[in-house]
Amino acid sequence: VIAAAGSGERLGAGGPKAFVELAGRPMLGWSLLAFNEAQSVAQIVIASPPGMEERVEELAGEAGVEVRVVEGGEHRSESVAYALIQADQDLVVVHDAARPLVTAELIDAIVARLAADEEMAGVIAAAPVTDTIKEASISRRVIKTPERSRLWAVQTPQVFRRAALERALDVSAEVLAQATDDAWLVERTGGRVRVVESDATNLKVTTPHDLRVAEFLLRERG
Ligand code: C5P
Repeated sequence: VIAAAGSGERLGAGGPKAFVELAGRPMLGWSLLAFNEAQSVAQIVIASPPGMEERVEELAGEAGVEVRVVEGGEHRSESVAYALIQADQDLVVVHDAARPLVTAELIDAIVARLAADEEMAGVIAAAPVTDTIKEASISRRVIKTPERSRLWAVQTPQVFRRAALERALDVSAEVLAQATDDAWLVERTGGRVRVVESDATNLKVTTPHDLRVAEFLLRERG
């Protein structure tokens, strides 16, 4: 499942982020290529910005990748829930189109890790945190400094057992709106989740600065 239905307001590109040109192709195209190349992926479902489903189909056609396209929701997790209805596999990888540097190797690695561990409901890509992280109050007074060696900056892709993800997404619209990743929804419904270390270069494109960095890294990759 690729969540690509965001408006991309913070990027200020004047349209949905998924279509922003990046190193010679629309941003979504990079994730599509990685998913198409991954050995563990049998089917790709994309949550599209509402009204842009045809453009997503065109983009996939140009990249030579077969996909199913669904209309996205108001919030990210709603988009994932709509796409999940169209996905028919037992293990479901969820990925943000806003992370165009994802690789087939990373997708295959998290799927293999989940397949090997029946106790786990999900396996997620994450990078060890290099900054010191502080928790602060609304007035910005520092409350605590969690031990950095135990902190991970969570990314996508994230892979889940289908039943666990369905249960996690079957919650109120308010809870779905709060979720910044699917793993949190799975955790709060009792599912065990494990992290697999991934590279910090699998960055999320949010600002124009991120776009420049992603452009550089993709061109460097060739
Ligand atoms: O807005 P943000 O960058 O956190 O979005 C993360 C991912 O979720 C993006 O790939 C975006 O396209 C997707 N998204 C979505 N449906 C929404 C909002 C965001 O698929 N309603």
